[in-house]
Amino acid sequence: MNPKKLQNPFPVSTYQGPDYFCDREQETLKLVSNITSGMSSVLVSVRRIGKTGLLQHVLTRLPDGFKGIYIDILETENMRHFLNHLGTALLLAESEETGTGRKIWDFIKSLRPVITFETLTGAPQASFDFKTKQTEQSIDSILSFLDSQSFRTVIAIDEFQQIANYPEKNADAWLRTRMQQLKNTVFIFSGSQQHIMSELFASPKRPFFRSTTIMKLEKLEFNVYRDFIIGQFKRYGKDISKEVAEEILQWGDRHTYYVQLVCNRVFAAASKKVTSDLWKQQAYELLKEQEIVFFGYRSLLTSNQWQLLKAIAQEGKVFKPTSQDFLGRYGLLNSASVLRSLQSLMKYKLVFRDFDSGGTLFYSIYDVLFQKWCLMNKQ
Ligand SMILES: Nc1ncnc2c1ncn2[C@@H]1O[C@H](COP(=O)(O)OP(=O)(O)OP(=O)(O)O)[C@@H](O)[C@H]1O
Ligand SMILES: [Mg+2]
Repeated sequence: MNPKKLQNPFPVSTYQGPDYFCDREQETLKLVSNITSGMSSVLVSVRRIGKTGLLQHVLTRLPDGFKGIYIDILETENMRHFLNHLGTALLLAESEETGTGRKIWDFIKSLRPVITFETLTGAPQASFDFKTKQTEQSIDSILSFLDSQSFRTVIAIDEFQQIANYPEKNADAWLRTRMQQLKNTVFIFSGSQQHIMSELFASPKRPFFRSTTIMKLEKLEFNVYRDFIIGQFKRYGKDISKEVAEEILQWGDRHTYYVQLVCNRVFAAASKKVTSDLWKQQAYELLKEQEIVFFGYRSLLTSNQWQLLKAIAQEGKVFKPTSQDFLGRYGLLNSASVLRSLQSLMKYKLVFRDFDSGGTLFYSIYDVLFQKWCLMNKQ
């Protein structure tokens, strides 16, 4: 964590500590309580809502006697990569200078990885060159090592759905078997491809079934986020009214990343007071900067797909994409063609499906900025 005061109170990259983090009190309490009771958790949501931020926040809030380890496995393609990430995370968790650090480093070194140091940051990186069996044994021995320490360990695995893509069959089954043998270690699995996460964790056929509690991360609460935005401006000697903060939240659809992005830009552009014109200008510039990417998306699509996408953009959430009402309102061909287009838009990750709080299925556009751009270009 960076204790230094940041230049901009709305960071848009990584977690920067509690001063820059809005709310998530309940979620943090719940995850910490799962941890202390030895229960593993699963965290799911659509992209860019704040899963990674919450994981890192929770890891700074662990009770005494716990050690947190964070691994992002998005870029891993097999068990060996997983092992590399796990080994590296351990090296990063403690400096070699401390007593525990020394022990951890000696243990990792005993597994004979190649350890390199990143040129600019000096961060260590472990790399193992093993065959499958030896890879599994090494993951096993790292977990056993952690489990036998005087501290208890929390292993947070981000983008966990990636494990379903490993060529090794049943990597999740293997990990689960290991997980169950551990007494001193709990896991938090986090992921954004919801159907894969629910397949991994909620399907009775799958080995993680019923072994963990599932938490769906929702958007931040409107008033809480609004007050946070106002407070962040104030803390840095700038002024934003309640109305303007609300306009930004509404425009960004309360979607954390996009709201942070607009606030970051608005903060940088405002000398003292934020006017309605100022934030709109910044939002417009954001869309213009992304336009080249959006043109790229559009060129991928057939005319039917593009018409459907624009219709979804205008609706925000579409509950009944094949209803006569929806088809008629946007001049769409027929329900069969809409269903086909919808499949393609989901495959391209332009549209996602989710359930609202009442459990009703809806379709929406992934990228809030792209949605706004579609609205600007709807004719
Ligand atoms: N509670 C919060 N308060 C302020 N900013 C937040 C909060 N949660 C997340 N953010 C910021 O919002 C952005 C998106 O959050 P994050 O990366 O955690 O989302 P995610 O759900 O992990 O996304 P992805 O699915 O793409 O991995 C980041 O810039 C992060 O710093
Ligand atoms: Mg993330």
